[in-house]
Amino acid sequence: MEITVVGGGYVGLVTSVCFADMGHRVRIIEIDPQKVELINKGIPPIYEDNLEEILKKNIGKNLTAQSDYQFIEKSDVFFICVGTPPQEDGSANLRYLSQAAESIGQALRDSTIFQVITVKSTVPPGTTESVVIPAVIKSSGRTKDSIGFCMNPEFLREGRAIKDFKNPDRIVIGGNSDIAIQVVRDVYSGFSAPTITTSLKAAEMIKYASNSFLAMKISFANEIGNLCKKLGINVYDVMNGIGYDHRINPYFLNAGLGFGGSCFPKDVMALIRLAEKNDLDPLLLQSVIAVNEKQPNKIISLLKERIGSVSGKRIAILGLAFKDNTDDVRDSRAIPVIQSLLDEGADVVAYDPMAIASMKIYYPDIQYRNTAGDALDGADACLVLTEWPEFRDIDTCFDRMKSRVIIEGRKILSIEGVEGICW
Ligand code: UDX
Repeated sequence: MEITVVGGGYVGLVTSVCFADMGHRVRIIEIDPQKVELINKGIPPIYEDNLEEILKKNIGKNLTAQSDYQFIEKSDVFFICVGTPPQEDGSANLRYLSQAAESIGQALRDSTIFQVITVKSTVPPGTTESVVIPAVIKSSGRTKDSIGFCMNPEFLREGRAIKDFKNPDRIVIGGNSDIAIQVVRDVYSGFSAPTITTSLKAAEMIKYASNSFLAMKISFANEIGNLCKKLGINVYDVMNGIGYDHRINPYFLNAGLGFGGSCFPKDVMALIRLAEKNDLDPLLLQSVIAVNEKQPNKIISLLKERIGSVSGKRIAILGLAFKDNTDDVRDSRAIPVIQSLLDEGADVVAYDPMAIASMKIYYPDIQYRNTAGDALDGADACLVLTEWPEFRDIDTCFDRMKSRVIIEGRKILSIEGVEGICW
């Protein structure tokens, strides 16, 4: 099929290369000319496992990138993958979405074939109907029955996005007509995952509810973990014990610093704002955020219980990314931890295998080292903030510390004498 993907960011690029790899002909529209140039050279502007390989294999063949809306009038399907960043009050900013919808509509003014505009961006329920459909209909001058509309949320984890795309648990397609839904189904033909077809609004809500549910599991594990810590119980044993119940399942029950990243905090907040706008008081969702906000303080309290004041002490930070296998530090729990340490006069020395450059934007003045061992040199204490697998094998590096106080905010180390937030 002929596909246009609007937005060459993380979701748009992963989606495009995977569709191209399936044999579809894909055109990416990305407004940033530098990104377009990189993509067309086969260089991904972001890091993602396997992305470069698949991009290089398909670029210039059935995949191309451009910064304008030319040559798209014959596309069968459009996927809008633009950002919906949070506004000051936490609600989603839909400006890029409506601009994309308007531009697609203008480009399709003279088309006569049935085409489907699909939203992949995470948007509040009701957005495709109230923002995208009117913008496309108005700018294209076409009738509602000559263009179909779908909502097809993504469930891609950073660092594992290609794997997640190729092995989905389910494919969700909301649509305003059966024909529109069938076109998007055809895009995914060959996938064995169950396909859930539903209304536009329900598909939009499925994305928010999925992410909020996963965030809720993490906050639940953290709340139980905090109590376990007081009672001297190993929370990981407890979560292992509950995870065997198939109604609960063992995933997303790792207690620690809490969730970060570009999705969970933003999506739970957007859902809270949506509930409030509808005169509801979303107590459970508010608590998911409240528990999460407090977790970074726990590691600081634990540290102070062990070494007293942190003022003038050298604290090694292992891990800056919001999770392993990414250079992304957006909403990383390392940010509030570093901020508290700096506020209290600590000397912070940090290491991360991938995210040092990203964290330098937030904290240009703290010290960075190129290896975990160098960061640990002469440290009074060490905080492990990201679950990088390489931290499993650095036992001897801890001998380089001035005193062996190691506090783990993510369960990853395998050495004696390590204290996790919640163990
Ligand atoms: C998430 C969703 O998983 C994905 O489906 C969605 O489309 C985008 O948002 P992502 O943000 O890439 O993906 O990361 P994820 O692996 O879900 O982790 C999010 C955060 O939760 C990380 O900070 C991680 O360390 C934390 N986490 C995860 C926990 O604290 N405990 C857990 O048990 C699992």
